[in-house]
Amino acid sequence: MTDASQFIGRSAVVTGGSRGIGLATAIALRSAGADVLICGRSADALEAAAAQIASVPAVAGRLVTQTADVREPEQAERLIASAVEQLGGVEILINNAGVGRFSPLAELEVDDWREMIETNLSGVFHCCRAAIPAMKQRGGGWIINVSSLAGKHPFAGGTAYCASKAGLNALTESLMQEVRRDGIRVSCVLPGSVDTRFAGNESSADAGWKLAASDVAQTVFDLLCHPPRSLPSRVEIRPSVPRK
Ligand SMILES: NC(=O)c1ccc[n+]([C@@H]2O[C@H](COP(=O)([O-])OP(=O)(O)OC[C@H]3O[C@@H](n4cnc5c(N)ncnc54)[C@H](OP(=O)(O)O)[C@@H]3O)[C@@H](O)[C@H]2O)c1
Repeated sequence: MTDASQFIGRSAVVTGGSRGIGLATAIALRSAGADVLICGRSADALEAAAAQIASVPAVAGRLVTQTADVREPEQAERLIASAVEQLGGVEILINNAGVGRFSPLAELEVDDWREMIETNLSGVFHCCRAAIPAMKQRGGGWIINVSSLAGKHPFAGGTAYCASKAGLNALTESLMQEVRRDGIRVSCVLPGSVDTRFAGNESSADAGWKLAASDVAQTVFDLLCHPPRSLPSRVEIRPSVPRK
């Protein structure tokens, strides 16, 4: 049975919280009373997201925004330090920031390769590396990495993206084994197609078959509701009826 009041006063960092899945997750956490810090690279997008989050009724919960590029280790460290300073710690870290560029490998720009690996994989490393000491200090925490079914089912035109998410799945499982005895639970969520602005997509009437960002946020939220003895370490979520 879920006791949503367990979120009151808990501190959460959501990377890529300015839109899509990250924004929906921040809304779910704050509505339940958590103190939430969202980050992204665009200050304007964060400001718009903060207004949207504030417009949703919440039990309690502070909201802080910070521009940060998770590809930069110093910025990841500053992000976590800021959560410790402003929210009193980091009990929940949702590594959600991610990018996708799709084209055949021979045509993929080196910068696109770097951006995907550095955001989707190295960015998670930087944020986890910064947050784990703070979590240990408080006696535990939760890290949920938003991966993708693409990490498990590679496809043509997705070499860098699929490799970054396959790497993220491996990182998640190794880290889960490393820190579970410290009271830190680590999981990954692997969504299929979600109706967001990911990879330059625009929402359209044809997107009704896709998952909504709030469906993935619900999965993240449900994971966080598990009792301390239980660790669902990998969850796949896909549209019930895929496009033909
Ligand atoms: N949409 C899908 O179909 C789908 C399916 C499976 C998995 N996923 C995964 O779900 C996650 C969220 O995707 P989404 O669909 O919500 O995409 P989205 O709407 O494009 O949102 C991505 C978020 O990440 C932020 N971001 C990107 N690069 C960043 C960086 N270097 N540092 C900090 N923040 C950064 C963006 O803000 P700024 O641009 O302002 O930095 C934005 O807030 C990603 O990891 C993605 O791989 C998506």
